[in-house]
Amino acid sequence: MRDGQQSVVVVLATGGTIAGVQVDPTTANYTAGSFSGDQLIATVPQLARLAELRVEQIDNIGSQNIKHETWQVLATRINALFRDPAVNGVVVTHGTDTLEETAYFLSLVVRHDKPLVLVGAMRAATALSSDGAANLYNAVALAANPTAAGRGPLVVMNEDIHYAREVQKTAADGMNAFSSPNRGRAGMIGNGRAVFFSRQETCHTTRSKLTLEHLDVGQWPRVDILYAYASMEGELVDYVASRAKGIVLAGVGNGNASVTTINALTRAAARGVAVVRASRTGSGLVSRNVEVDDSANGFTVAGDLSPQKARVLLMLALACGHQRATLQACFDHY
Ligand code: SIN
Repeated sequence: MRDGQQSVVVVLATGGTIAGVQVDPTTANYTAGSFSGDQLIATVPQLARLAELRVEQIDNIGSQNIKHETWQVLATRINALFRDPAVNGVVVTHGTDTLEETAYFLSLVVRHDKPLVLVGAMRAATALSSDGAANLYNAVALAANPTAAGRGPLVVMNEDIHYAREVQKTAADGMNAFSSPNRGRAGMIGNGRAVFFSRQETCHTTRSKLTLEHLDVGQWPRVDILYAYASMEGELVDYVASRAKGIVLAGVGNGNASVTTINALTRAAARGVAVVRASRTGSGLVSRNVEVDDSANGFTVAGDLSPQKARVLLMLALACGHQRATLQACFDHY
């Protein structure tokens, strides 16, 4: 960027509540992914002070419907945009329900250090006191800010900045719905001014060796999540193991489950299904060989990754040829 020139920020719109429209601004009912990216940008004219904006519509959906195909399109487009020296940063507008999964996926397959910011909103664009405009303003400011570079994808919600690996939607409603339970938020941003508290030290972007570029989306390995509960039986595991290449257990406590479930997972591992133990609790660390004999059973543990992020990592690791012997190292480093 030459002196006096504005940064160029590309906004990739995918839908979500941030682009949601209500029939009546005083009612809760709305449809996610209604405004186009251009319409959304037009609701915040102050964005023009921050950067020269270019808008591309990638999708316009509620993020509960996001597909691997959209992840692939996003990753390919972001990598191409970042190769363009004229582009300084990218913002992805996204529904909040699966935002953390898309952010973590992108952190593993985008190979550039330029600022990449994902943003959503808890209130529809037409709501009284919507949070979308301020979130979008802060996201564009962050994407144009060189101090955001080299940190992997960042998530901006409610004046907080989160790392892609750490962020979780931890509440079903309310504007304070996002947090980073284990390692804390990356920083804060108000009126477009960012302050960072920490760096993200795990492997991402330019240090990631994981890719799905060599596979068509239809060939991405199937990985399912099984949610543990009191008195769980093993049949569900047997059923999933007959179809999937990998299973993530959203286990009770330290990634545990009933004896019959653990036995079924051990059978699955013995026939070559990758089994990763995570926790349904929402925070904390699942450690190896505490109550469960992971070494004997052939399991991997997710550490502090949530089940949904463990699923993303396992899918990518399997796609890149990792097997039981090297999977734990992946979970220790990514
Ligand atoms: C969605 O994830 O698309 C709907 C919910 C939201 O964006 O807050």
